[in-house]
Amino acid sequence: MSSLTEQYSWTSPPLVVGAPMRIIALPPLAVEVSAAGGLGFIGAGNNLDELDGWLEQAAGLVSKHAALKAYHEKTGMLPIGFGYFNWAPDEDLEKAMAAVKKWKPLAVWQFGAHKNGDYATWTEKIRQVSEGRTEVWVQVGSVADAVEVAKMAKPDVLVVQGTDAGGHGLESGAGLITLLPEIADALHSAGMPEIKLIAAGGVIEGRAAAAALTLGADGICLGTRLLASEEATVAEAYRKEVVRASDGGANTARTKLYDQLRGTTQWPANYNGRGILNQSYYDNSSGMSFEDNKKLYEEAMKQGDAGWGINGRITAYAGTGVGLVKSVMKAGDIVREVQQQARQRLQTTPS
Ligand SMILES: Cc1cc2nc3c(=O)[nH]c(=O)nc-3n(C[C@H](O)[C@H](O)[C@H](O)COP(=O)(O)O)c2cc1C
Repeated sequence: MSSLTEQYSWTSPPLVVGAPMRIIALPPLAVEVSAAGGLGFIGAGNNLDELDGWLEQAAGLVSKHAALKAYHEKTGMLPIGFGYFNWAPDEDLEKAMAAVKKWKPLAVWQFGAHKNGDYATWTEKIRQVSEGRTEVWVQVGSVADAVEVAKMAKPDVLVVQGTDAGGHGLESGAGLITLLPEIADALHSAGMPEIKLIAAGGVIEGRAAAAALTLGADGICLGTRLLASEEATVAEAYRKEVVRASDGGANTARTKLYDQLRGTTQWPANYNGRGILNQSYYDNSSGMSFEDNKKLYEEAMKQGDAGWGINGRITAYAGTGVGLVKSVMKAGDIVREVQQQARQRLQTTPS
């Protein structure tokens, strides 16, 4: 069975994947991750009206990098992927299918379905419109979901999301250190060892990447770390907040509060999101009514950079790994640094 870096011939080991963070991971970030020898994803989420334009932009950027251009010309496949939320209305998901047909991305990343059968339905469509060429990835957060999705949808890749992850995920979950090997074992027992696993959640640098590979991952995914990249489409104050925050177990939380304030409540009931604690969170914890909290949130939204931070109220989704993010870097340098650190760690780990 060939490794993912053998399958994606422009990539180098270990495979570093750029998470499809909605409207943050846009073509500049996704293509930079791929250009550095990783695999970048555009985060379309439920903004599927904009996907066609993003893929057009990505195709233009791909043509500026020799290795990516060569792969694209040789295979006809765009050496990036995109991710969407399966809870988006069907007519929007059909727009994603049209984009797969037109742009031929290497992979589509599905997430946030109300029921696992929905992944199977859309997997079939992706395979149909791409004539089986676009790979299907699904992000899951429990052993039960991993096995059910594997059986129902037979994806090429499962992204195993541990509870340290920034942004949305299951309300109750486990960290990668237990989740990943249990899912690997369960897939073996279920006769599906060929499904590749990508580790997501708390992987910020090479030590965690090496650990995840040791646990059985075929590659690792960076979300929070890439928020502090030059190419992420985020407010400057968001980037600063990710670099400022430390001790993520204490200073981030999984909560539905941020979704309620933002009005993004379409997520399945058993999902919430991990973000850095801010004044909205503290006020909610000390008993402020939601209505008062929401009013203050709306005011903060008008304050630009001043609305962010520990005394601010604008949501900064990020994972428990924030304390390991020390500076803003170019996305390509982040990918290369994590790969190099992981390789070094794996060589020096006592057997
Ligand atoms: C700001 C932010 C936005 C995210 N948006 C998405 C998304 O749109 N779709 C998705 O599948 N995952 C999303 N995620 C989750 C990532 O796919 C991934 O599971 C997570 O970032 C990995 O953990 P880490 O943040 O510790 O690297 C998001 C994560 C963050 C931090």
